Amino acid sequence: MSGEIAIARSVAELRRHVSAWRAQGERVGLVPTMGALHAGHLALVAAAQTQCRRVVASIFVNPRQFGPREDFSTYPRPEADDLAKLAEAEADLAYIPAVAEMYPDGFTTTISLGGPAEPLEGAHRPGHFDGVATVVAKLLTQAAPDAAFFGEKDYQQLLVVRRMARDLNLPVEIVGVPTVREADGLALSSRNVYLSPDERRVAPQLCRAMREAASAIGQGTPPGSAIARAILALGEAGFQVEYLELRDVDTLAPLTTLSRPARLLAAAHLGRTRLIDNIPVVA
Ligand code: PAJ
Repeated sequence: MSGEIAIARSVAELRRHVSAWRAQGERVGLVPTMGALHAGHLALVAAAQTQCRRVVASIFVNPRQFGPREDFSTYPRPEADDLAKLAEAEADLAYIPAVAEMYPDGFTTTISLGGPAEPLEGAHRPGHFDGVATVVAKLLTQAAPDAAFFGEKDYQQLLVVRRMARDLNLPVEIVGVPTVREADGLALSSRNVYLSPDERRVAPQLCRAMREAASAIGQGTPPGSAIARAILALGEAGFQVEYLELRDVDTLAPLTTLSRPARLLAAAHLGRTRLIDNIPVVA
């Protein structure tokens, strides 16, 4: 069993903890989250613990990365459960700033990215990655960790954060952690709670269709026809596919053949829930 976890609600408190650890020569890892924690988030904490003596998990539902018609106000915020999970996982500190601590009156600076932030999620959720980059840059400068951990579940976000850290010379290592899935293949997500029981039964077909397409492409089927077949099957299952595309693993440039290491990335609506997923394509 685990006890309590220390909580910091201000930048000053966060920095007090981190400086004390630094003074002891301890390596510090940061796991940024929006809470509603599940085994995917806890895998990031576990990955951080393998290489950092101290692990800070932040919980902040970031208003700047939600579009006007998205779910900012209804996003789940089970703080007590989240704290229990972090204590159980033996994280060292929960950093839970209020919106006014993160964005005080007069806040006006935004980080804006090109390159990997432009296609896919960038095209379908205008402003989303500017909001992500701005809050992640703030979290990284507030906590000043040695390493920060991000899930491959949000593969494009991982690339965007890596690009930003490089472009701004942020002295932090960005570490990617593989996607944690349910037994039926559905990628864990805080938004899966929005699925009705019927939708929950259909949801794993997204990853199943992607796996079939990835394996067909790996065996030489032209990507265009493998993807068209997957989109058709998903439509018949009740999904509205926003995109399902083969992209370069580093730049996210579109690929029409398997000429470079590639990943399939998808976003699809099932009822009112928007699911995203991505998997590698191996030749
Ligand atoms: P959130 O959706 O809470 O995710 C926090 C971190 O957990 C992200 O790095 C995400 O990729 C990772 N994650 C989510 N589901 C996962 C899964 N099934 N397997 C592995 N990792 C998973 O992503 C965000 O919050 C925000 O955009 C944030 C980076 C915190 C900035 O606000």
